[in-house]
Amino acid sequence: MKDVYGLILAAGQGKRMKSKHAKVLHTLKGRPIIDYCIEAVSGITDDITVVVGSRREEVMEYLKDTVKFCIQEYQLGSGHAAKVAMRIFPDEGTILILPGDVPLIRQETLSKLLKYHRDGDYSATILSCIMEDPSGYGRIVRDSDGNVVAIVEDRDASEEIKKIAEINSAVYCFELKYLKKALDMINNNNDQREYYLTDTISVIRNSGGRVGAFIGDAKELAGINDRMQLAEMEKQLNCEIVERWMREGVTVIDPKTTYISKEAKLGKDVILYPGTIIEGTSVIGEDCAIGPNTRIVSGIIGCGTSVTYSIILESSVGENCTVGPFAYLRPNSRIGNKVKIGDFVEVKNSTIGDGTKVPHLAYVGDADIGSGVNFSCGAITVNYDGKVKHRTKVADRAFIGCNVNLVAPVEIEEGAFVAAGSTITEKVPGNALGIARCRQTNIEGWVTKKFEE
Ligand code: UD1
Ligand code: CA
Repeated sequence: MKDVYGLILAAGQGKRMKSKHAKVLHTLKGRPIIDYCIEAVSGITDDITVVVGSRREEVMEYLKDTVKFCIQEYQLGSGHAAKVAMRIFPDEGTILILPGDVPLIRQETLSKLLKYHRDGDYSATILSCIMEDPSGYGRIVRDSDGNVVAIVEDRDASEEIKKIAEINSAVYCFELKYLKKALDMINNNNDQREYYLTDTISVIRNSGGRVGAFIGDAKELAGINDRMQLAEMEKQLNCEIVERWMREGVTVIDPKTTYISKEAKLGKDVILYPGTIIEGTSVIGEDCAIGPNTRIVSGIIGCGTSVTYSIILESSVGENCTVGPFAYLRPNSRIGNKVKIGDFVEVKNSTIGDGTKVPHLAYVGDADIGSGVNFSCGAITVNYDGKVKHRTKVADRAFIGCNVNLVAPVEIEEGAFVAAGSTITEKVPGNALGIARCRQTNIEGWVTKKFEE
């Protein structure tokens, strides 16, 4: 929108987080808090400035050139932060100001605030809400006609004012003309000796401006000041996502211990057992059974596959497979259809063809395994020579016996059979038997003789 500017205040120390990192970089559903605020504002204007101060290096490093920055060297209060930023804005126009720590704010709400501000011809409009427990927040003070008069911070409030349930969400819409003048007039005569942005409200009113408050939804406006609030919000966001998928036809045995990312997609009749964590851009096909205790990070799982007690990272698994219990699929693994990846199997950077079985205790790393292969118990690829990784190729219908070492680079051709216990260093031709171990010798009477001595 033209002539609308966005300003996000994120210079505060976030003392209550007790963290060595900037508050706005703490994550919710895997994304820094500030991302949510920027996303909401960016639907309204692409002219966004972030005021940074405390631990600004990491915030700037994270946001890079997606926004403009303004540095508040010393954290003298939210009013001071806004004032520092004023020099980069023109003298006319509308500015949306919000703190970097209200991640649930929706773009629609900001649009409504802006509309209310314009329709009412206000000089300043506060996004307020009614809080069941308003303690800690600034209170909206109205006169007997209901007009907004001022915001009073909790720590500066009288008992009477503390009873007011309408609070300041710290999201505002200002006409720059009024805001700039008001920021020059506020002082730090308060409990924290800070310049409060909230004080501009009464200043603007007293200098003839119109001030108003648009009452929003409290659920959306909670700020994050400490780790309890962070955890509470994580829970709330997750709960919304899990419920959304249940409405879409996913069975969730225990919603409280099931975590789904915002970006993940799930098909109908998926069943999620307790302790399932689905992260990143995962896609879970119809009729999959996932869990218990399974973590899938940006994994693609085909229809009808079950994954139990396993971890899958940035890999894909085809349809009607079984994975686990206790399987570990590391990045860049591509598993075909009807494959069995059994217990204690690790797969990394490999492809496995349709109908292949890796039933237990195996390592498949940097390998291309064909279809219909049997990769028996204890078989492994020896992919690392201490310096470089090499690939192993196992063609269709090959049989790899128990406890085989396939020393890469090496190739097992179609239909070949590798005898148990072999350490294979050379190609095994198609349909051949590869055997590489000492012949067994039995020494007759050895035990009896030993005991007689
Ligand atoms: C603020 C509001 C309060 C409101 C509450 C809602 C003020 C004075 N009070 O209180 O009315 O109910 O939010 O959550 O604004 N900041 C800077 N530089 C500074 C100080 C703060 O950039 O020097 C930024 C912070 O990073 C934060 C915002 O300003 O994003 C608000 O500051 P914070 O200390 O969190 O204020 P609250 O006590 O939460
Ligand atoms: Ca705050």
